[in-house]
Amino acid sequence: MSERILIIDFGSQVTQLIARRVRESGVYSEVHPFNSVSVETIKAFDPKGIILSGGPASLTNVDTPRAPDGLFDMGLPVLGICYGQMAMAEALGGKVVSSDHREFGRAFVDIKEDCELFHGVWDVGSREQVWMSHGDRIDAPPPGFRTVATSEGAPFATIADDERRFYGLMYHPEVVHTPHGAKLLENFTHRVCGCAGDWTMAGFKEQEIAKVRAQVGDGKVICGLSGGVDSSVVAVLLHEAIGEQLQCVFVDTGFMRKGEAEEVVNMFREHYNIPLVHRDASELFINKLEGEPDPEKKRKIIGATFIDVFEEEAVKIGGADFLAQGTLYPDVIESVSFTGGPSVTIKSHHNVGGLPERMNMDLVEPLRELFKDEVRKLGRELGLPENFVGRHPFPGPGLAIRLPGGVTREKLEILRNADAVYLDAIRNAGLYDAIWQAFAVLLPVQTVGVMGDARTYDYVCALRAVTSTDGMTADFYHFDMEFLAGVSNRIINEVKGINRVTYDITSKPPGTIEWE
Ligand code: XMP
Repeated sequence: MSERILIIDFGSQVTQLIARRVRESGVYSEVHPFNSVSVETIKAFDPKGIILSGGPASLTNVDTPRAPDGLFDMGLPVLGICYGQMAMAEALGGKVVSSDHREFGRAFVDIKEDCELFHGVWDVGSREQVWMSHGDRIDAPPPGFRTVATSEGAPFATIADDERRFYGLMYHPEVVHTPHGAKLLENFTHRVCGCAGDWTMAGFKEQEIAKVRAQVGDGKVICGLSGGVDSSVVAVLLHEAIGEQLQCVFVDTGFMRKGEAEEVVNMFREHYNIPLVHRDASELFINKLEGEPDPEKKRKIIGATFIDVFEEEAVKIGGADFLAQGTLYPDVIESVSFTGGPSVTIKSHHNVGGLPERMNMDLVEPLRELFKDEVRKLGRELGLPENFVGRHPFPGPGLAIRLPGGVTREKLEILRNADAVYLDAIRNAGLYDAIWQAFAVLLPVQTVGVMGDARTYDYVCALRAVTSTDGMTADFYHFDMEFLAGVSNRIINEVKGINRVTYDITSKPPGTIEWE
């Protein structure tokens, strides 16, 4: 088993970033909610060190989260960040108070003493930029700790107990606004915890192949291909692990982009020699959806139809013992809820959920521990072509959720053509890789235009392009006006049915990436 770091989550918005940074330092890490961790589970996980995350609560209330009992007696190194630092300080006999000097955003720390965390990056006497976000602060550090950095609002901005290998930071090293934060975390994992930093994608691949073989035995696995990166990486990995025990099924909903279905089928059949059932169900999907304008109902119809078709195909090939899915790490992390209530459903994402119970199959999810960019790295490791691995994400319900107002064959065709022109222009301008996702939306609105000497009365097309690291938040992409003017021109000239183009300048939040 690879060396690992356990991150205990107190509910900070940026806990996942700690996991990313630690992995970037070559050490495997997992995030677990504070209320699911005990000395026993920690022993079973066998980490080289523990990181306590930040969190929104206040330690000055008695019923807010605390570190697990016995954690500080385990002999493991601990790094507390913000709330985590205060939880550590309080547990070890320090004092936490609410402060009238809140620090939020960019701040500066003065480096007072040497510290293992600062090795090779911060020198005594320097002033360094960090990112703070706290109301409470430590009033007295616990016995055994020295103060190695201070800031205006946090006199104990960094504390260290070298003997027990306990360290506390009031600021967030995981965010990019602490420019040297990644190095501080690497110093913790490598120098304090003694990790070698040898967690690599090649190693992960071998480990997962062995795991899949052990899980599946001589059983049969069915894998639903969507044309996206995640399910393709799963399919290629499984093919390498279990060869002919894998059966891939590609259900073409008819909501794919131009040329996409052919591309996927060719790649798997010809390039990889992976057997693939290709079911063209586009008529069925369009018929079921025709006339339905409600976004949630559309999503539900597509999800249910998908499962029906998939099941039919699965039965035809004699069923399977396992269903393989491209579930990623952000989908499986339980977020800590302080209200205890369920979170609101913004939109129902479509996947093959529901099928395993119906068909009595177990799940195989080899990507459950990876972030999106790590999946791309694994794809490269498996030899998937660069232009495939770098593809923008594409939602399961496809173009159907980019047609507000309802799907018709005519609108689907117009949208598919506009989308193809838009992506072609983005590729030609060399912008594809700088953008997380770009697509066209066809609005259920017709406007008057003039082309040549004639009046037109055609649809409006909205263009969307965003940058993001994980799809959870996003900024609209700042194209230059020349590019937008050019692409608008091309769409109106090349796509019959559109006479007006707009650009969506909404970020997420308050918008979402897709329009439905
Ligand atoms: P939103 O629109 O919620 O999208 O901001 C966030 C990311 O998720 C993708 N998305 C989906 N992916 N099935 C998927 O596999 C879906 O039903 C689905 N809906 C949205 C969206 O394209 C973006 O990348």
